[in-house]
Formats: sequence, structure tokens, C-alpha cells
Amino acid sequence: MCGIVGVKGIKNPQDFLLEGLKELEYRGYDSAGIALIDEGELKVIKAVGRLKNLEVKLKNVKFINLKLGIGHTRWATHGKPTEINAHPQTGKFSTVVHNGIIENYQEIKKELEKENISFVSQTDTEVIVKLFEHFYNGNAFEAFKKTLEKLKGAYAILLITEKEPEKIFFAKKGSPLIVAKNEGKFFFASSDAPLIGYVNSAHYLEDGEYGYVEDEICLFDHKAINPVFKPLPANKESAKKGGFRFYMEKEIYEQYDVLKENTLGRNTKDGIKFDELDKEFFEGINNIIISACGTSYHAGLVGKYLIERDAKIRVDVEVASELRYRKPLLTKDTLFIVISQSGETADTLETLKMAKKAGLKTLALCNMDNSSIVREADRTILLRAGIEKGVASTKAFATQVMTLWMLSNYLAEKNEYEAINEAIKATKVNSKIHEKIKRLSKRYLHGHGFFFIGRDIFYPLALEGALKLKEISYIHAEGYPAGEMKHGPIALADPELFVVALLSKNILFEKTKSNIEELAARDATVLTISQEEIELTDDFIKINKSRHPMAEFFEMMVITQLLALEVAIRMGNDVDMPRNLAKSVTVE
Ligand code: M6R
Repeated sequence: MCGIVGVKGIKNPQDFLLEGLKELEYRGYDSAGIALIDEGELKVIKAVGRLKNLEVKLKNVKFINLKLGIGHTRWATHGKPTEINAHPQTGKFSTVVHNGIIENYQEIKKELEKENISFVSQTDTEVIVKLFEHFYNGNAFEAFKKTLEKLKGAYAILLITEKEPEKIFFAKKGSPLIVAKNEGKFFFASSDAPLIGYVNSAHYLEDGEYGYVEDEICLFDHKAINPVFKPLPANKESAKKGGFRFYMEKEIYEQYDVLKENTLGRNTKDGIKFDELDKEFFEGINNIIISACGTSYHAGLVGKYLIERDAKIRVDVEVASELRYRKPLLTKDTLFIVISQSGETADTLETLKMAKKAGLKTLALCNMDNSSIVREADRTILLRAGIEKGVASTKAFATQVMTLWMLSNYLAEKNEYEAINEAIKATKVNSKIHEKIKRLSKRYLHGHGFFFIGRDIFYPLALEGALKLKEISYIHAEGYPAGEMKHGPIALADPELFVVALLSKNILFEKTKSNIEELAARDATVLTISQEEIELTDDFIKINKSRHPMAEFFEMMVITQLLALEVAIRMGNDVDMPRNLAKSVTVE
């Protein structure tokens, strides 16, 4: 995810900016840039790739008298990771860095183009600076406020301008931004780490707050307000983990924000919009093959249920390592979809090459722009999950499922705008439920294994829940369709078999309930996750009432992730780096 830093009032501000961006490297980025005001004149330096590329360029620039500056690391979402698309995005006399997505940037762009204002980048961010300059009429703050009024979506913004070279303008809505001061020096960052060591406390901007720094922090939410300074974490490593014990835990908690980002500009009141796709791309397509590994494969299975049910297109989901060697029948009326967080998974990549060779249209659902899979595929929908550090995938899975759900709506011309928003809300971690899972986890540390069971879309979620648990706790766990129990697995039922039952109220409730009862009757220890409490269950986690199975799905997903996390923590395991596993599997 992108990172922002800004500074005013220190010697050599470029050093703070570069150091600050280094502190944000862990969030992932594919280009970076810095803008400084030097003797009233803007200087903008940008580079693709690692920060050392920017550092080298910066060394070759001569500065006279630096006043202030802003910096950014960019994780490409709108437009490729090129120098032109990197931030700061610059107009004639101003420049801006931005995190988030401007939902209505196309509309604004069209309006400004009618006024003969031209655009050079593919980013949504460029509209901010172009709007600002369009509105500028002798008062930069007025122009900044007018700009904010026009923007829809999410943003954390820093803007500087030659017109008022002593000021840094800032605003926040939906994306984090922090401002701090220390003896006439002012600092900005999108998260704590860059500020540690410079200040002890900071104001964490609330949505809708904006203002500028000159000799003071001038803060507004329509009217002038005072900043509220809160202490910063003392340690950079824990700041990077956002105060969580592990990256995986942080990533579970991030899912709500990540899904907002994933759906922004795509899930609209008028239905699904993908800038990356057009209807012609699907012409002549009668079938879909989805190829993936591990967690991404499980997401693909959810996609099958959704797309077949709603869009009425046949979908086969394949484990890439199998597909690659089994000489499959690939016909040209088939769209070949690959799903991958890393974009580098060797087996998935090879199946993609195979499909291309057979002349199929290909589409990647991927989190890493410029990865091998993205470069190979005809089209890509970026997942916008941000960097995922925990080896056990959580937020990437959430975005994969959400993207497939949106794709299914897109193909079926179905509008589930409200349901999608409800499902996103369902991923907000409920602290009481997390606390309950922490307590419950102590009862699930022994036994001879876990069954995760569910029907329909809850079956792939059962597979995923079991995979999460085994990856980080090293306890044997399997996912099953609930209806399969009596065909063999129930032979293992005894008090030392732990069953996690995903009981949807909306899909096959009674049937799944009787599968749970079969297991309980054979003395298995059952933990049920559902809207409706049932008898004969040993433990129960209640989810919110919802009439949409996908809202249930996303809430249960978070619960199974937290269960795996808490069991693994109790076992004393390294949750972020489980034994024998790697984040990116580039060999077969
Ligand atoms: O990067 P990919 O999505 O292609 O990776 C596929 C699998 O290796 C990955 O999902 C793996 O199963 C994770 N460790 C799951 O947590």
C-alpha cells in the first residue's frame, strides 16, 4: 500500500523524507518520489523500483535553500508502475501525494479536459493537482477546500504549491494520515514509523479533517479545531505491526479497509465497473477455467459457486500443479482465469502460459502489479490488498473472493451493491468475538485433528479454514463438504475430533445442521459458527444476522482466521513465518 511523508522546518528535509519512506518500505511499493520547495521553486524527483534508485537521483540534484517537502511510495492501482504515474503528481505550479482512490476521477478528468486541461498520467491522483490549479485564484487554501469538495472516494493528501511556498496543505478521508510538531518543525506520515525519534506524540487525523501547516498546525473540520496529540509507539517494529502481535493479526484486522479499497470505483450503485474489462473481452466465451494454488485455489472454488449460479457460465476450478501436466482440453470458447497473490507461483504461471499457447483469452486476478503472471496475462484485475507479510494468506484471500463476486455480478449484470457493502462491514473485527476466540482456543490444542465443514460456498471456506489452521498451528485439519461425513470421515468422530461447523442460515441450514448433529451424536467436539444457536454443539460463536450468504461468509472467514491465529499463538509458533513454508512459491 502507498506511503506518505511530509516535513517542514528542518535542515535537509530530503533526508527525513527518504528515511521516512524507508520506514514505510515494509508496506510494499513499486515506485517512489519526493517534491521539495527550493527558493520558492518546486523540484520533483521520482524513480521506479527500489528507493535506492530515488536516492541516486536525489544525490545529483543541487539545492539552494530547502524549505519543505513531501514524499510518497506508490503501490500501483490505477495505471502501471512508471515514473509518470509515480507520485508526486505535478501541475504547473503545484504537486500532490495521495493515498487512497478518487472514485470519480474519470468524471473530473472529463470536465477538466473540456476546459483544455490535459493529463499525462494514468492515475486518479493527477486530478487533485489539476483541480487545485484550476480553482486557484490567489488563495491556495480556498482552492484546496474547493478541490476537496469535488473529490469522492478515499484519500490522504499532502499538497504543496509555489504560490504559497511556506505551506503544506493536508486532508484525510478514509486513508490514514498523521501530523505532528516539535519546536517549529512539522511532520506528516501515513503511519507511525517515520515519526518515531522525531516526536513523541501526534495528531491522528479523523475523516473529514483538513488544513495546512505554516507556523502552526491549522486544522479544520468545516470550522477550526485543535489537534489532539496522542503518544506514538516507542518502538518501530511494533509500529510497523500497528501494535499487533503478528503481521498476520494486523492483516486480519486490515481486511475491512482493504476490501473498501478493493471495491472502490468497482462496486457502484449502478452495478459493477471494471476499468480493466470490457464486454467485448467476454464475447464468444462459454466456459471458464480457474487455475490457482493453495488459498487462491480456494477462492477460485467460491468463484465457481457464484459465477455458475448467477452468470450461468460453466466454471472448472483446477489446482495448477495438476492442470499443468494432465494435458487438459482447452477450447477457445474458454476464458482462462489465474488467481495469485504473489503473481509468481510457478505452477500457476505455467498453466497461464499453456492456456495462452492454446489461444485462450486470459485474465489474472493478482495482487502484485508487474509480476510474471500480470505480465503474461491478457488482462489483469489488481486485488489492491497491499503487501501481505504473513505467509498465511488472509487479506489477499478476502480480496480474491470479493473480486470474483464482483466479476460474477459483472457477468450476470446483477447489482448487489448493498450486499457487497454489508459483506465488507462483516469483516470488521468484533473485539468481543476476538476475545472469546482467544479464550476458546485453549480448548483446541490437543486432539487428533480438526474437521472444518460447510456446504455450498462454505465448503471452500471450510477448506481455507483448515489450511489456515494447519499452516500456522501444525495441527492436522481437513475441510469437508458437510454432506460427505457419512461417506467415510465420520469414522474419525470421537471426543478428540474437533469440528468447526460453518452453519449458514441462508443456504441449506437444516441439512448442515443435521450433519453437525450426526457428528455430535458420535461425541465429536463441535464448535459451531452461525447466526442461530443450535443444540448439541459444545461451543458456539454467534455472527450477525444477515439475509445474504456472502455477509455470513466474510464474517465466518474472519472468525476462522482468528481461531487459527490464537491456536498457533498458544502453541508458541512463529505465526508470520511458519516452518517449511515460503510466501512466494517460485519453484514447483
Ligand atoms: O501467491 P499465490 O496466491 O499464487 O500463492 C498460492 C499459494 O502458495 C498460497 O495461497 C499458499 O497456500 C498460502 N500460504 C496460503 O496461506
